[in-house]
Formats: sequence, structure tokens, C-alpha cells
Amino acid sequence: MITSHAGQQTHKALIGQTPLGPSRKRRDPTYFIKPLEMTDAQVREVIDAFVKAAEHSVKAGSDMVFVHAGGGDLLNQFISPFFNVREDDWGGSDEKRFRILREIIEKIRHTIDDRVPILVKMNCNDRTPKAGVTPELAKKYTAWLSEIGVDAVELTSGIKFYNHMNCWRGAVPVRESIRSFPLWKKGPGWLKMKLTMEGKYEFEEGWNLEDELHVKPAMGNMRSFFVGGLRRIDFMEEIVEKGYADFVCMGRPFIREPDLVKKFKEGKKQADCKSCNKCIGGVINQLPTACYRNGLPLA
Ligand SMILES: Cc1cc2nc3c(=O)[nH]c(=O)nc-3n(C[C@H](O)[C@H](O)[C@H](O)COP(=O)(O)O)c2cc1C
Ligand code: SF4
Repeated sequence: MITSHAGQQTHKALIGQTPLGPSRKRRDPTYFIKPLEMTDAQVREVIDAFVKAAEHSVKAGSDMVFVHAGGGDLLNQFISPFFNVREDDWGGSDEKRFRILREIIEKIRHTIDDRVPILVKMNCNDRTPKAGVTPELAKKYTAWLSEIGVDAVELTSGIKFYNHMNCWRGAVPVRESIRSFPLWKKGPGWLKMKLTMEGKYEFEEGWNLEDELHVKPAMGNMRSFFVGGLRRIDFMEEIVEKGYADFVCMGRPFIREPDLVKKFKEGKKQADCKSCNKCIGGVINQLPTACYRNGLPLA
């Protein structure tokens, strides 16, 4: 069970208030929101909420606690110098930007059973217009995660509310994205996506591998989970056999084929997912997560 907080990566209409973030510096190019800068009390409230969520997930039967600090969510925003320009206890240096994550992990470790592993999913590359979490910074943070007793790390990349295609590879879901835009934004949005995005994010098998290998020496005794663009069983075996990672993960292939592991065991060699990204178009339109390869249901 994933524990996360979206921070500024959400709609005002969805949560009934201006989203919160580490700093009020930037209006994002997707929702055009300038988040409210969180107060010290709000930061501490979020830390406690993560600890409670971890406790609940263990009580509910989770085999591990999964803290999401990647993909553009709040913890990603705090550890990124691109989003976090605070100068108090929660910003101003790498140590202070990392502090929220450190406190969450230390408090969770203190609260839950020692035998329950903690996994942190974190970006190895934000790919923001100016440096956020870079592979070098991810390496530094990964060493700190290892020091504070995290058991496993999963490296991902991209910030969804900056450019969601930095989180994935494959076709740009132009039509599906435009459907979610307000009327005034449909024309310029379509033009922008056609001119600057379409065809520029071709599917690439294991696109995080180079950054993963850059960060890997800092992992210490932590286990590593590799994600992003795994489709062929041969490639997954190579990742593990060559020691690039201990585990492999998939997102979209399981949306298409929830019973994929069983199929692999029975001899299937490759997932059916075609990385058309219409499932992401579905999420953008707030539809239930599903494979929409044949198109989104009519509005
Ligand atoms: C519709 C959709 C929803 C996702 N939701 C989450 C999520 O809630 N938490 C998370 O860590 N990753 C989430 N991901 C990202 C995947 O875990 C994975 O990192 C990404 O899709 C790249 O891997 P893939 O090529 O196997 O899809 C989501 C992906 C998709 C397509
Ligand atoms: S809509 Fe289906 S085929 Fe397309 S990327 Fe998503 S899961 Fe894969």
C-alpha cells in the first residue's frame, strides 16, 4: 500500500482548496496553480499523517511500508531544489530539504514492527527545466536513506504536473489529454502537444537504467526495485542476473494484464501493453484506472 501526499500535484476543484507545497514560487504549466507555502505546523502534521498511514497499512496487512517520494508528489517537491526554495528548517540546503523525509522514515521505523520493511520510491531524475532531483542528488539522498534504515529503494523519474511524459515513454495521449482541458485551453493545448510533445517520447525499454546504475553504488545494503519500460521477460531476467536490481516492477503491463505474472510463469515472453498511454489519459480525465487502448468511454 502506497503512502503519499500529492502536495501541489492536484486540482483545486478536487480538494476544495488551493493545493499546498513547500514554496509558493512556481505556477505549474499543467494546473496553473501557485501552491500555498506550508507552515511549519502543516509540515509536522503531514509527517504525523505519514506515520499514521504507515501504521494503518501494516494493520491492514501490508507486507511492507511504501513511502512515495517521487513522481512529483509532495515529498518529491520538498527534496527538490527546483520546487523547495524555503530558508527555514525544511529548506535552504540538501540536508534541510531531505529533513521531512528523514523524520517520516525515522518515526515510521520507531513506530512499526522492526520486521516490516520500508521501501522508498524516489526520483533519480526529476527532468525539471532547472535542476531538481538530479542523478547526483538522488545518489546523495539514497546514501542517507540507507543510513536511516530504509530497506529498499525504487527509483523512478519525472514530475507529472510539469510534463507527465517525463514519467513514462510511448505515445503522447493528445486526444485524451485535450478532452480534460477547459474549452479555452483545448486549441492552444492541442497545438502545443502536437508541436512540442507528440513523437518525442518514443518507448524505450528500461529508460531509467543509466540513472539507476549511477545511483546504485550509494544503496549500501538496501534492496533495489527497478521500474520503467519493462515488457520482455528476457530483459527483466537480465536486469536481475546482471545485478542491476534485486526486483523488477511494472505499472502499465499490470493495468492491461493483472494476471501477467501467472502468464509469464506459463511461458508468455512479453507483456501485451503497447505503451499507447491511453490509461494515463483516463487518469487525467479522472476515470477509473483501466486499459483504454481502444479509446476512452464516451463522456
Ligand atoms: C495509470 C497509472 C497510474 C499510476 N499510479 C502510480 C501510483 O499511484 N504510484 C506509483 O508509485 N506509481 C504509479 N504509476 C507509475 C508506475 O508505477 C510506473 O512507475 C510507471 O508506469 C513506469 O513503469 P511502466 O513502464 O511499467 O508502466 C502509475 C502509472 C500509471 C500508468
Ligand atoms: S491503455 Fe493499455 S495498452 Fe495503452 S499504455 Fe495503458 S495499459 Fe498499456
